[in-house]
Amino acid sequence: MADSLISKAACIADLKAITKARIPKFAFEYLAGGCNDENTLRQNRRALDQVYLQPQYLATSCPASLTTELMGRQYAAPFGVAPLGLSGLVWPRAAEYQARAAKEANIPYILSTLASTSIERAAECAGDNFWFQLYPPSDLAIRKDLMARAKAVNCQHLVVTIDVPAAGRRPKDIRNGLAVPPKISVKSIAQTMLRPAWAMATVRQGMPQFASMMPYMKDISNLREVANYIRTTLKDVVDLPMLQQLREDWSGKLIVKGVLSVADAQKALEAGADAIIVSNHGGRQLDAARPSVTALEEIVAAVGDKMVVMVDSGVESGPDIARFLAQGAQMVFAGRAFMYGVGAFGEPGAAHCIDLLRQELLQVMEQLRCPTTTQLPNYLL
Ligand SMILES: Cc1cc2nc3c(=O)[nH]c(=O)nc-3n(C[C@H](O)[C@H](O)[C@H](O)COP(=O)(O)O)c2cc1C
Repeated sequence: MADSLISKAACIADLKAITKARIPKFAFEYLAGGCNDENTLRQNRRALDQVYLQPQYLATSCPASLTTELMGRQYAAPFGVAPLGLSGLVWPRAAEYQARAAKEANIPYILSTLASTSIERAAECAGDNFWFQLYPPSDLAIRKDLMARAKAVNCQHLVVTIDVPAAGRRPKDIRNGLAVPPKISVKSIAQTMLRPAWAMATVRQGMPQFASMMPYMKDISNLREVANYIRTTLKDVVDLPMLQQLREDWSGKLIVKGVLSVADAQKALEAGADAIIVSNHGGRQLDAARPSVTALEEIVAAVGDKMVVMVDSGVESGPDIARFLAQGAQMVFAGRAFMYGVGAFGEPGAAHCIDLLRQELLQVMEQLRCPTTTQLPNYLL
């Protein structure tokens, strides 16, 4: 870990504070905010805080290892980067930086359909660690083409997000003009002028785009038309028949993201999915949703021996990752935490953030005297 960065940011909360001071308010609120009253966002934190781990100080054990086997592949740690749309709004080329850092650290990297970096570019950066998240477009030709492009770059993991049947209502984004269609106001220009490093980087790179969708938007030029196009093209709801169709069309690993109930986990299994990600979308979709960590235990009990169960929503530290693993998750994803690394320090921040989480998780396991990540459930109080 670079000494210069650890002295500036010793934990994710430090990265968040630096990001807040470095990017415009509308971009920070887009990243950090939740839907409606942000109740689910707060409950994610509260629920994780209530998961306690019990050390076994006098046990004889081996040194702790973070090595993780998942769907026939070995990763260096049991956590990965969750997909974030419009990543370039937080920091230009954020997705590329994260993809490269994930490859270097050997952890999974999931690119969003709506990221500001294209499938081809992100796959080049992430190599074997590249996973692709699909919001299935209603236009079948586009859907098939997106999947073919993922296949062409040797992507083995398709993540289908099911928890956006309606656009999340986020008052901060609406107030900031980031709703669809977006509007550039005097306020947002003023916020940008207060963040010159972000403004310069954005001028160099150009306005953030939905890079993977660009080939399908040839005749569309302005921001309003782009936003409308995305809204109408990606409006299809993922139900069981759609999932079954995607299963037929995709020969690699199929992962269903956004599961919060045993019933949906069982439907995903029925559709032939290899894995699920238990998630409430980081508290951005349903403000009455329960925290992932609360739903996880019963979902693992119901389907954990038949499919891989992973999780996200609320990770802000290594202890949070340990809490999720102790509840039975096999891989834990974080969205905002990794983005705070890039928001704070650009490309070096992507690796720094992974390093912080790795060091923190290792410390927890050594403190518990737990030798492997799969044994963490034995330390749940
Ligand atoms: C700014 C932002 C954009 C997101 N965009 C997407 C997306 O395009 N596709 C998706 O499946 N999930 C998206 N998510 C949800 C994340 O993948 C993940 O579920 C969530 O961030 C996890 O919570 P955490 O940020 O507390 O770790 C987004 C989350 C944030 C914060």
